[in-house]
Amino acid sequence: NRWHASVLTLYPDMFPGPLGLSLAGRALHDGRWSLEATDIRAFATDRHRSVDDTPAGGGAGMVLRPDVLDAAIGGVMGPGDARPLICLTPRGRLLDQAKVRALSAGPGCVLLCGRFEGIDQRVIEARGMVELSIGDYVLSGGETAALVLLDACVRLLPGVMGAADSAAEESHGADGLLEYPHYTRPADWQGRAIPPVLLSGHHAEIARWRRAESERITQERRPDLWARHEAKQRGAGGMDG
Ligand code: ADE
Repeated sequence: NRWHASVLTLYPDMFPGPLGLSLAGRALHDGRWSLEATDIRAFATDRHRSVDDTPAGGGAGMVLRPDVLDAAIGGVMGPGDARPLICLTPRGRLLDQAKVRALSAGPGCVLLCGRFEGIDQRVIEARGMVELSIGDYVLSGGETAALVLLDACVRLLPGVMGAADSAAEESHGADGLLEYPHYTRPADWQGRAIPPVLLSGHHAEIARWRRAESERITQERRPDLWARHEAKQRGAGGMDG
């Protein structure tokens, strides 16, 4: 019943990769989650072990075959498997912290990493895949996107983040704002002082300053998040905003 990730890829050696180190690696070692990377090519049936073919209608690149992918999915998902099947692709819906929270709260996930130009649309539909993108840029394959998604989910699993437990205050947290700036010693560094309020010991003033900085930075860098934040405040505050 631990959180279980299955990854279908043509490059299983890319896993666990960075997820075998640091916070996620410790949690993997401690059995708080598990990871299995499966080579799609193991499910090829012809003697050339082919996994892709030329696109119907012509054009550049190659398309992953539906029969091979379906067999690979069947190889890692049992009939009663409740985990969402996610395909990482730049044409997917954008991943955000709300989706990460939902995924992390579930039983795990099955991640299909695209390569080449794409995946046959019929297997996407037949298997009810959810297509997700990690951002508006193009990677050479879905593997690094899968690593990003898993990192974001695993750090939210119970017991993984530990004492720091900063999930409440971090960027994209409950209030939908970006995080305020941080400082540590020395108090003066290369002629730059720590904002005096942070050294004042006045907790209420410090909280007020951090809140104001969060709002300022969000307005400046992410007008989209700021608009969403303001809409949510209006909704929560009733008709008076
Ligand atoms: N594969 C290639 N680019 C990607 C992206 N931006 N997000 C998810 N998967 C991808």
